[in-house]
Amino acid sequence: MFFASDNSSGVPEQVLAALARANDGFAPGYGADAIMDRVRARIRDIFEAPEAAVHLVATGTAANALALATFCPPWGAVYCHRIAHIEEDECGAPEFYTGGSKLVLIDGADGRMDPAALADKLAAAARVGVHNVQKGMVSLTNLTEAGARYSVSEIKALCAIARDHGLPVHLDGARFTNALVAEGCTPAEMTWRAGVDVVSFGGTKNGLMGVEAVVIFDPAKAWEFELRRKRGGHLFSKHRYLSAQMEGWLENDLWLDLARHANAMAARLEAGLSRTPGARLMHPRGGNMVFAEWPRVGHHAAQEAGARYYFWPFDQSLDGPGEAPLSARLVASWSTTEDHVDRFLDLIPGR
Ligand SMILES: Cc1ncc(COP(=O)(O)O)c(C=O)c1O
Repeated sequence: MFFASDNSSGVPEQVLAALARANDGFAPGYGADAIMDRVRARIRDIFEAPEAAVHLVATGTAANALALATFCPPWGAVYCHRIAHIEEDECGAPEFYTGGSKLVLIDGADGRMDPAALADKLAAAARVGVHNVQKGMVSLTNLTEAGARYSVSEIKALCAIARDHGLPVHLDGARFTNALVAEGCTPAEMTWRAGVDVVSFGGTKNGLMGVEAVVIFDPAKAWEFELRRKRGGHLFSKHRYLSAQMEGWLENDLWLDLARHANAMAARLEAGLSRTPGARLMHPRGGNMVFAEWPRVGHHAAQEAGARYYFWPFDQSLDGPGEAPLSARLVASWSTTEDHVDRFLDLIPGR
C-alpha cells in the first residue's frame, strides 16, 4: 500500500535485463554508445520528428532546468503554473541554470494554466522596457501537479498564446506517458504539433531507475543543450547505462503498458473513494494520481496498517476530530497491484 510516489516503485525486469545486456564489454562514454544511437532513432520515430535532438539526463530537475536554460535568456521570464514543479520543488534549479530567469506564476484550476490569465500576464509584459524582466518562455506540466491532464486542444490554445508573443514552450513531462495513454493521442500531437518546442520526456516515474529524455524539436538548439548539460555536470560518463534503460523501456511498448497499468490502478482507487462515505475527490484524475479527502479516522486506520502516502497540502495533522477530513495525494505506479488498492480501500472507511 505504497501510494507516496511513483518513484517509490522498483524497476521492471525488462529494464534490468537491458542493463545486464549493456554491461557486456566496452563502449564509448558520454553518449557516443551504439545503444544511444538506437534510442535517438527510436525517440525520433515515436515523436515523428526525424530531426529532433534527443539527450538523456538522470533527473527530472536537470531535464527541466537545462531545457529552460536553452530557451530562456537570464533576463527572461518563464511563465508557469503557481504550483509547477519548477516553482515549488526544484530548489531554484531553473533560476540557477538559466542564470537568473524569473518564474512568473499563472493561476488556473487543477494545476492547469488558465489561458486568459496567461494572455493577460503576457499582454501586461508587452509594455515592459529596459528596466523590466522580458518575456522569455512558457512552461506547462502534463500531468499537472494536481494530477489533472491538459487535453491536446488545451495545450494548443496555450501554445497559440505563447506564439502570439513569440515565446517558445516547454512541457514538463515527468508523467508524459501517463497523460499520453489517458488522452489517447500520439506523442507528436501532445507536443510539436500542438506548438511545444521542448519536452522533458520522463522515464523515472514510469519504471526507469533514473532517465529522462530531453527532446528538442529544433535541432539548431542541440549543441547549446549539449554544452549546458556538460557544464552543468549532467553528462554521464558511463552513458550506456542511461541509454540501455531507455532502450529496454521503449522496447515492445513497455513504456505504454506500464503507464496504462498505473492509470488503471489510480482509476480503481478513484472508483473506490467515490463510493466511500465521507470521501471526496479534489481534482479530476488525468492519469495515475488521485487527490482526495476522507475522515481522519480512516487516515488513522490506513496509516496504522502501513499505508504510505502524503497529506496534500503537507502541513496537516492527524490530530483532530475523527470525522474531520484530511486531504491526501495517492499515486499509483506500474507496480501497484489491485490487491494493494483493495486492501487500502477496505481500511479508509475507518473503524
Ligand atoms: C512534475 C514533475 N516534474 C519534475 C520532477 C523532477 O524529477 P526529479 O525528482 O527526478 O528531479 C518531478 C518529480 O517529482 C515532478 O513530479
